[in-house]
Amino acid sequence: MLRLGVNIDHVATIRNARGTPWPDPLRAARLAEEAGADGITAHLREDRRHISDADIDALMANLTLPLNLEMAATAEMQAIALRHRPHAVCIVPEKREERTTEGGLDVAGNEAMLADYIAPLREAGCRVSLFIGHDPAQIEAAARIGAAVVELHTGAYCDLDTEGRLAQRDAELAGLTRGAALADSLGLEVHAGHGLTFDTVGPIAAIPQVRELNIGHFLIAESVFTGLGEAIREMRRCMDGAR
Ligand code: PXP
Repeated sequence: MLRLGVNIDHVATIRNARGTPWPDPLRAARLAEEAGADGITAHLREDRRHISDADIDALMANLTLPLNLEMAATAEMQAIALRHRPHAVCIVPEKREERTTEGGLDVAGNEAMLADYIAPLREAGCRVSLFIGHDPAQIEAAARIGAAVVELHTGAYCDLDTEGRLAQRDAELAGLTRGAALADSLGLEVHAGHGLTFDTVGPIAAIPQVRELNIGHFLIAESVFTGLGEAIREMRRCMDGAR
């Protein structure tokens, strides 16, 4: 069974554009659950550009689905995660100037720091996930420091989804496929996400070791036209069809 985590960050982006209380990310999370989502993902950024602290409070208090809290490896975020103890914590790299999470975490280059950083989160019962590229060195480092999960970054694969770059896309997909097999063989649960759409999700969903996909921006964009429930149900159909 391939799980779908729905990332609701961009519901908050639309809300914050006008400073109104709507659209409410919690309402979106409830709708996502009705439509068959298996989890909710929210990224509390250091600059709070979309999800706010109050959103995390509301999600933790009201959500029945497991929450996957994405965050940078900072002391502030660690304290917030330890206070809430969400089902999962996904550590992502974060630079203030970027539009979204552009690359994977450098676990191999920060092994000791990240091992210390995730230890209290693991002790608090959170499933710790590391958002990384498919480089074997990163996957092996994630296993060494005791992460439960790696989320493989599909952004480069999705960006290559145009004519003329299909050979590069196939190479990227092959890297993700090898990375998923390596991670699984090291005892890591494999997730994937970033940039996925109805058109690009199939080959990722078909990688047998992948257990969960986290998808946000495209679903929220599509919901303008079809509604969030239908966008999620169609994504599920695409995922299940590829499995
Ligand atoms: N997974 C991680 C770790 C992310 O940082 C993001 C973006 O917030 C996603 C998945 C979802 O990406 P998208 O919004 O492009 O579907």
